Amino acid sequence: MSYALSSTNMTRSRELEAAWTYHNGTKHSYQSVRTGTHYLDFSNQPLPFKIYTTLPPIPLPRDFSPLTMPALQAIAAAPSEPSQERVPDLKALGEILHLSAGITRHRKAEGWEFHFRAAACTGALYHIELYLVCGDLPGLPAGVYHFSVHDSALRRLRAGDYRAVLVRATAGEPSVAHAPAAIVCTSTYWRNAWKYQARAYRHAFWDAGTILANLLAVVAGRALPARVVLGFVDAAVNSLLDVDSDREASLALVPLGWTATSAPESAPAAEALRLETRSLSRAEVDYPPIRAMHAASSLATEEEAAGWRGGIDTGGPAGCASRTIGLPSVDDADIPADAVAEVIQRRGSSRRFAPRPLRLAQLSAMLHRATRGIPTDFLMPPGTSLITPYVIVHAVEGLSPGAYVYHRAAHALELLREGNFRNQAGYLGLEQELPAEAAVNVYCLADLHPVLDRFGNRGYRAAQLEGGIIGGKLYLAAYAQRLGATGLTFYDDDVTAFFSPHAAGKSVMFLAAVGHPARRRAG
Ligand SMILES: Cc1cc2nc3c(=O)[nH]c(=O)nc-3n(C[C@H](O)[C@H](O)[C@H](O)COP(=O)(O)O)c2cc1C
Repeated sequence: MSYALSSTNMTRSRELEAAWTYHNGTKHSYQSVRTGTHYLDFSNQPLPFKIYTTLPPIPLPRDFSPLTMPALQAIAAAPSEPSQERVPDLKALGEILHLSAGITRHRKAEGWEFHFRAAACTGALYHIELYLVCGDLPGLPAGVYHFSVHDSALRRLRAGDYRAVLVRATAGEPSVAHAPAAIVCTSTYWRNAWKYQARAYRHAFWDAGTILANLLAVVAGRALPARVVLGFVDAAVNSLLDVDSDREASLALVPLGWTATSAPESAPAAEALRLETRSLSRAEVDYPPIRAMHAASSLATEEEAAGWRGGIDTGGPAGCASRTIGLPSVDDADIPADAVAEVIQRRGSSRRFAPRPLRLAQLSAMLHRATRGIPTDFLMPPGTSLITPYVIVHAVEGLSPGAYVYHRAAHALELLREGNFRNQAGYLGLEQELPAEAAVNVYCLADLHPVLDRFGNRGYRAAQLEGGIIGGKLYLAAYAQRLGATGLTFYDDDVTAFFSPHAAGKSVMFLAAVGHPARRRAG
């Protein structure tokens, strides 16, 4: 394998204990959930919104024209080629932000009002924020903005064109240099760590991933070029957003649109802003493993950002054994055409599943469309993946119940072990009923060894994020077929052992359960 790395990055690449220490230290096990002493202090529950108290809102339009591309097509669409000017206007941004991370449903229960959002999020704690960095756009002057979810508005943090900061931070990544606008995702750790403690750093990428799955489907529906960029100098982006990176840190950039002229070469000085935001809770608890993992996976120089870009050989399709079943081919004409916007509005995690089986064509469409590749700066050539999906089938017509591995290139399932594994699936999904009740459980596994060897500790972010994006696409693929889905957490090593020897050495990045939704239990 040949790639250029700076000496700093080389050092960092060899110091992989940070990723393993974090990963191993945040595993769930039968033992860990029984010995943990953490409890939920509801009197100190953090606010699920970032609210700037002194900035005026710029309301986002909501009168979108129908976004009709079928969701099952949008989640698998090849990225739009940047061949002509594509500049999003304020309305387009309003649609992208709303359908990625906006409030789509309200529910009142026990005197509380809950606001659910377009994308699934661990514990409904909504710790992911979206920011916008843009030049002059139709309806919006150049600036750095925050997407204020609580009132569906933008708030301007800085006036002026600051895109050059992102271009420099990404060492001239072409999709950033030619983008009229870019979205930056951050996580405010405490808002998720309140419940999940140090494991919240994994959730940062899972929950950003489900948002990005929606975002990529929406921009595909509008033929707007976009790409997920993970190679950037962390401190440069964090200081542009004026976030305190010990509490809130940038995770990914998504350049949107394309112009022939690149962004200006320089930007106004980005002074510290010290803007007031509403306090999240009475007190905040610091989780040092989160900060340590973030620091160990940060890029410090443009040289490091340039060394990050590129691909990894994930070793083509593994030899398919004789117990491999080719899945029915997935043709646009034969699959539900429910539009992407409608599917996102309809989505919501299933709280119960009915015992009805899936049709084989439904499972086939879901696996195929959720795994066709993601436009990123780390999956090269396009269409490669760090993730191998493993599946427990409980109830699919024409398929024996059992444990399978999915071969993306061949669009085939290889039977690893036949059997009814409902009880085991319930156990592996942290002893919950949902994974036992569902028709199938899809686990996204990654072999972190080559990923960390190639990318250093930051490869951990990439593997978790890709798991989250595929998880978000699985949600959309299920709801597009009028099925239900839920993300789930899991007993890490027990999942690997369950799928071994095939999965030996791999780590779980995401779990989604899919089936026919059923009514909630009373009470
Ligand atoms: C990565 C991930 C893990 C999740 N884990 C669980 C889980 O273990 N148990 C559960 O009941 N729900 C789980 N959920 C579902 C969330 O609780 C749900 O997304 C959240 O309450 C928001 O509701 P909504 O998805 O209906 O909008 C998970 C969701 C995600 C994205």
